[in-house]
Amino acid sequence: MDPYLSNPKRVLVVDDDESMLDLCARVLGADGFEVALARNGEEALARLADGKFGAIFTDLTMPGMDGMEVLKYVKHNHPSVCVNIVTGAGSIEGAVECMRLGACDFIAKPFSVGELAAMAFRCLGHRARKLEVERLKRDISAYEELDRMKSEFVSNVSHELRTPLFSMGGALELLRENVPELSSGTALKLCDVLSHNLSRLNSIVSNVLNFSRIEKGSFRPSFRSVDLAALARKALEDLQPLFARSGICVGPVSVFSAPASIEADPDQLEQVLINLLGNAIKFTPRGGEAGITISGTSDGAMLCVWDTGRGIPPEYHLKIFDRFYQVDGSMTRDAGGSGIGLSIVKAIVEMHGGRVWVESSPAKGARMNVFLPAKRSALAD
Ligand SMILES: Nc1ncnc2c1ncn2[C@@H]1O[C@H](COP(=O)(O)OP(=O)(O)OP(=O)(O)O)[C@@H](O)[C@H]1O
Ligand SMILES: [Mg+2]
Repeated sequence: MDPYLSNPKRVLVVDDDESMLDLCARVLGADGFEVALARNGEEALARLADGKFGAIFTDLTMPGMDGMEVLKYVKHNHPSVCVNIVTGAGSIEGAVECMRLGACDFIAKPFSVGELAAMAFRCLGHRARKLEVERLKRDISAYEELDRMKSEFVSNVSHELRTPLFSMGGALELLRENVPELSSGTALKLCDVLSHNLSRLNSIVSNVLNFSRIEKGSFRPSFRSVDLAALARKALEDLQPLFARSGICVGPVSVFSAPASIEADPDQLEQVLINLLGNAIKFTPRGGEAGITISGTSDGAMLCVWDTGRGIPPEYHLKIFDRFYQVDGSMTRDAGGSGIGLSIVKAIVEMHGGRVWVESSPAKGARMNVFLPAKRSALAD
């Protein structure tokens, strides 16, 4: 947290003139500032090391380290601290040079009590505006990053849609031109191509639709009693042809201790299973293995979708659940996808009052763990 935000009126006054320190302490103290004093530049640096100051008022001309050196030190080491220069009438040029170096303001001796207080309040305003500008800059870069990711998402989705459409176009063309001569085997193969790509398109479109419903806040679960093991078996059965095509061995769902049925939205849980299994297929090389385990807990059910694929380095374990995030987001990556699958999984699981997390390291594969509470959570309402 910014130290100035935590105590915006904590200030350090630096002057070798005892009476000036006394005056500043009284004037600023009376206006609600918390004032610390330093009798020279070296002492000021020592106090800065342990104090959380919002501003410094430093005399320009002091024996040893002068005000300009204090200013340079502060700008370099504590850039969020405002430096105000107090100068003699004869050294205005020095004060102007300090402004060029980044001082916030200056005041020339002799000054009235009111002038000193006015400078202190100007400094507060200056600091508040600076913080606001910094906050806006942070917001703008966050929006720019999101905008960039959204553009990438649109281009990824278009690419994802084009691939199955292209295959379907080719298969249809072959069918149309050669219907009389085609053997029933070849015709069936072409129909398989059509049906495989149709279900691929279907899954991309339903992911994008669900994603947009989640973004709009209109994707609410409809709770019912759900047999999680039966749901998992069905999802595995539906995706079995894809596992087979990809040369990945997948065994039956392992149920360790059968959970009692849970209250959940079966369509949304099916989407969770499809997205997790889809990733297992996409990120596991031919010859690998994958599977689902389910166990009951005292207050719900644990579901784990595991694979022996490329795994995920620990530094990405949280990021992969962010929308649009892909460990390899380059256009030259081998696996397709739009980077929304796990963000949908996370949103659905959290709407059920549950939790999703990954255990994985490269070359050891990935275990995507989902905890779902048995009873409908207050969070879901
Ligand atoms: N089982 C897994 N093994 C290795 N990496 C994974 C696995 N699951 C997810 N990842 C990593 O997490 C990223 C995000 O996954 P997510 O499912 O959100 O997006 P995607 O699969 O790239 O695209 P989409 O699911 O939208 O088609 C993936 O791009 C991949 O880098
Ligand atoms: Mg995915």
